[in-house]
Amino acid sequence: MDFQRPPRLRVKMITMGEAEVGKSCIVKRYCERRFVHKYLVTIGIDYGVTKVQVKNRDVRLNIFDMAGQPMFYDVRNEFYRDTQAGLLVFDLSNRATFDALDHWLDEMKSEIASSADMDNVVVCVCGNKLDKRRCVDELEARLWANSHGFHYFETSAQTGEGIFEMFSTLLSDVVTTVENGGTKISLHTQLGFTKDQVDVIHRLKNARFDYEQLGVHPNATKEEINKAYRKLAVLLHPDKNVAPGSEEAFKILVTARAAMLKRCQ
Ligand code: GTP
Ligand code: MG
Repeated sequence: MDFQRPPRLRVKMITMGEAEVGKSCIVKRYCERRFVHKYLVTIGIDYGVTKVQVKNRDVRLNIFDMAGQPMFYDVRNEFYRDTQAGLLVFDLSNRATFDALDHWLDEMKSEIASSADMDNVVVCVCGNKLDKRRCVDELEARLWANSHGFHYFETSAQTGEGIFEMFSTLLSDVVTTVENGGTKISLHTQLGFTKDQVDVIHRLKNARFDYEQLGVHPNATKEEINKAYRKLAVLLHPDKNVAPGSEEAFKILVTARAAMLKRCQ
């Protein structure tokens, strides 16, 4: 029997994130298996290519490694188009670089013209410098990533931890997307939970007051409290929700309801 190998795929990937978070070091660790201690600022953009095997296919991976410094915006913005994969990096030891992810996501969305294109880009959020003292909670970062439908990995370009697993997940998802005619299979479908479930966990963990947690006004009646509780409990019940943080969020929900009902008496 004549066995034909599927044709080689060309994949375009970009790196994003604040200056000095380790984007170039991550690429170097993956492509060249080495680490550079000295900070060599990326000027505008760096380009690299590597050949890899993913799901039995030959892949030519073109990496456009962007400069994080704001002054290079005009250089990097033209490289967003036709991207199939994005690595959104922050530094686990520097909280401000995590807070800046929203800004990077906005930049990405506005540069990748149509939202249909954006939906089919496979994105991985990467908490780098795992070898240093962490300032960002793993669950918080994972929820941020998952609520946007992105993968989440923690890595150290210095030790190599997590790097290959991250690239492997990202690329295998891109190959699946290509084989699916360019339509990405949503992360929530892959992982078995919905965006609503992740959003509820996010809200319960971040809201300051019990009424905000339940999504009702401060003087809600007993009926309103119980109605809101039941709606959230269905989304959150540990038997049904396998999203990260669901058990903890369920406990917060139960406590919030009890506290509000007590005030009603
Ligand atoms: P720009 O090109 O300016 O956007 O920065 P970048 O995100 O490409 O950062 P780069 O990869 O150049 O790394 C910045 C600094 O962080 C360098 O001094 C690296 O040695 C260091 N660094 C990168 N990754 C790690 C890591 O995993 N652990 C530690 N401890 N240091 C790291
Ligand atoms: Mg760089």
